[in-house]
Amino acid sequence: MNNIVGNETRFLHAIEMGLGAWQWGDRMVWQYGQGYNDDDVHQAFLTSITEGIRFIDTAEVYGSGRSERLAGKFLKETDQPILVATKFFPLPWRLIRNSIPAALKASLERLQLETVDLYQIHWPTPLLSVETMMEGMVECVNRGWTRTVGVSNFNQSQMIRAFSTLERNSISLASNQVHYSLLNREVEKNGLLARCKELGVRLIAYSPLEMGLLTGKYSSKNPPPGNRGARYANLLKKIEPLLKLMNEIGQEHGGRSNSQVALNWIICKGALPIPGAKNATQALQNAGALGWKLSEEEIAKLDEASDKILQ
Ligand SMILES: NC(=O)c1ccc[n+]([C@@H]2O[C@H](COP(=O)([O-])OP(=O)(O)OC[C@H]3O[C@@H](n4cnc5c(N)ncnc54)[C@H](OP(=O)(O)O)[C@@H]3O)[C@@H](O)[C@H]2O)c1
Repeated sequence: MNNIVGNETRFLHAIEMGLGAWQWGDRMVWQYGQGYNDDDVHQAFLTSITEGIRFIDTAEVYGSGRSERLAGKFLKETDQPILVATKFFPLPWRLIRNSIPAALKASLERLQLETVDLYQIHWPTPLLSVETMMEGMVECVNRGWTRTVGVSNFNQSQMIRAFSTLERNSISLASNQVHYSLLNREVEKNGLLARCKELGVRLIAYSPLEMGLLTGKYSSKNPPPGNRGARYANLLKKIEPLLKLMNEIGQEHGGRSNSQVALNWIICKGALPIPGAKNATQALQNAGALGWKLSEEEIAKLDEASDKILQ
């Protein structure tokens, strides 16, 4: 295994932050259609582009295809070169290697693109070996339908199997997209972040705002709507000291918001956050995580406050 970042995957290491597009059409978790709509996410996209974001992350399952369709529409209307990542979901009725290029073809049609920049396996599955999945991904590269290959929610051993299978085909594993935030630091504790750095695999951090908790707008008394309320009931009881510290640190940087501190912390850790935004206001605020850096001392204080919650 070599750890040199391949020429074709180098672009991902130059991107500091992206925009997540799960919100674009999802009703189950994000209550799409209640409080925000197509126009709001279009504005979130346009604002992000204006603020210099050039990478969007979608998936075939987001909004049952609506997210990819909206992305395709929005991309047609901009003359900026936007890098696009999407994902294959290993649903139980498509568990052969050829299912992967077939799914990518359908994604490309929804996206109105001839190729994507990054194609990822959304989740590993015991029903399909990592090696078979990677053979399907090699086929996607050979057909010119994706520039690079990534995985998501892969643990270290699954990632290394993916890395090695691709390497045998002279392809570098570009990325592993996993949950990472000040309120979920599994990838630091289990060594995945360090392993990604060693192998030149970009760690893409999903739910970097812990689905809104790190913005500071939610508390036990004011929980997030939908199933996030139950999911985070315990965590919400403990996060006040961290939110307070984030606020103090933000003030030291000229009034940066909690979400900006949360995203900057991830960038400082060497990962690529892809916050989701429902509207232009959220997108604008999140883009303000770029252009400045937390100090080593501030990062250590944030680590300590988060450790106290997560221990
Ligand atoms: N690979 C995977 O398995 C996987 C899993 C999850 C996510 N993802 C990807 O990662 C992206 C981001 O993760 P995520 O969407 O789970 O969570 P997130 O980015 O941590 O949180 C996004 C949510 O926080 C709230 N928010 C965002 N910015 C805000 C701001 N500036 N001020 C106030 N509220 C704000 C919004 O919800 P409210 O306004 O409703 O609070 C928004 O929907 C997704 O869009 C998707 O592309 C991938």
